[in-house]
Amino acid sequence: MRWTGARERARPRAAIGAAAATAAMLIVLAARGEFSTPVLLAGLGAIALAWLWRDARVEGGPIDGRAEAPASLLPSASVFPDPVILVDRRLVVAEANEAARGVLPGLKDRQPLAFALRSPAVLESIPAVVATGEPARVEIGGRTGNEPVWEIRIRRLIAGDRATLGEPAVALFFRDLSDERRLERMRVDFIANVSHELRTPLASLSGFIDTLKGPAKADQNARERFLDIMQAQAQRMTRLIDDLLQLSRVELKEHVPPATPVDIASTVAHMVELMGPLARDRGVELALDVPEEPVRILGDRDELLRLVENLVENAIKYGGSGGAVTISVARLSAQGAQAERVELAVRDRGPGIPAEHLPRLTERFYRVDVSESRIQGGTGLGLAIVKHIVGRHRGRLSIESEPGKGATFRAVFPAAA
Ligand SMILES: Nc1ncnc2c1ncn2[C@@H]1O[C@H](COP(=O)(O)OP(=O)(O)OP(=O)(O)O)[C@@H](O)[C@H]1O
Ligand SMILES: [Mg+2]
Repeated sequence: MRWTGARERARPRAAIGAAAATAAMLIVLAARGEFSTPVLLAGLGAIALAWLWRDARVEGGPIDGRAEAPASLLPSASVFPDPVILVDRRLVVAEANEAARGVLPGLKDRQPLAFALRSPAVLESIPAVVATGEPARVEIGGRTGNEPVWEIRIRRLIAGDRATLGEPAVALFFRDLSDERRLERMRVDFIANVSHELRTPLASLSGFIDTLKGPAKADQNARERFLDIMQAQAQRMTRLIDDLLQLSRVELKEHVPPATPVDIASTVAHMVELMGPLARDRGVELALDVPEEPVRILGDRDELLRLVENLVENAIKYGGSGGAVTISVARLSAQGAQAERVELAVRDRGPGIPAEHLPRLTERFYRVDVSESRIQGGTGLGLAIVKHIVGRHRGRLSIESEPGKGATFRAVFPAAA
């Protein structure tokens, strides 16, 4: 890219002017017969110096006085990876870096910016920035959940009336805000979900308190029934708070993998024993298939107990109609570059989970059937906790289900040396 800068044009012209003036002076002196050898030498020296100065200024550039601009005004992508566009005062693109061309594929040098970026907010801000020098900030995108969100900061490079056409007058700096906005949305959704989950049992508790203080004051039977319901609602709130605290604890520790070897076979066996009463209640048979000898992974025993508890509880609650749940632990031997691993699987033979729900199942508060989960006393946080525990143990969680035939939840961990 090249443009003619006023200062670059002035230097060669001054040099030619100085040389011409010195030559003219010599001619006048010669005509008058007033010049001597020292004057002649001084004059010729001045012409030579002026010419050298001119040559130095245009070295590497065209002789016609048009100075070549540096190859690029923009820093390389490794220094500045975000998109940058330079436009002149008419909003014509003077230069853009690779990142900008990636974001706006229609972007072309010496073409109006509007051909590639159709944001009225940006296009209207640029003339104001050129005129006043006051920087502007505009956000574009984000109209749908998946559309990226860009912050564009617009800065003036040179006063509008001094900029020549084609010369960059304004820089547009882009910054990707998509992740920030997504996290913000998740936080807002999360708070809305927590409030909603707490408000339901709270409203029910308040309602029963009013009834017990008023119409049902002297009704002993109603009192007993209502107190039972109130107790269940209070337990539900406690469970929600416990799950939330557990989730935040696991999330906090997720970057620090556990370092102590734990026998996952006996851990699983222990939890399955504790789940016995719930399974018997629901008429579900728990089948345990774990090796006799210890199977070690680097783990946090409490977290692994919570993981097994959540998966087995789900299998009993949502897959219990199939009558049996199998919980297995197996070593997966090393294969090629893949080191030895340990697989924990919980399989039920219930109604299964339709495929479209599988990718979202581990999201907080996500439930296939919200009312069914509520009836079961669920908070919708169990699998989110499981996902983070598996993540902290550097494992992988997978869910398979064939509707009508049940579901299998599998966690695969690196085996401890
Ligand atoms: N084995 C399963 N069979 C069918 N659906 C399942 C199974 N496990 C989980 N689900 C579905 O996944 C949803 C999310 O499960 P998750 O454990 O995260 O929440 P929850 O069980 O509803 O509540 P919580 O575990 O916090 O008490 C459940 O509501 C249920 O719809
Ligand atoms: Mg659950």
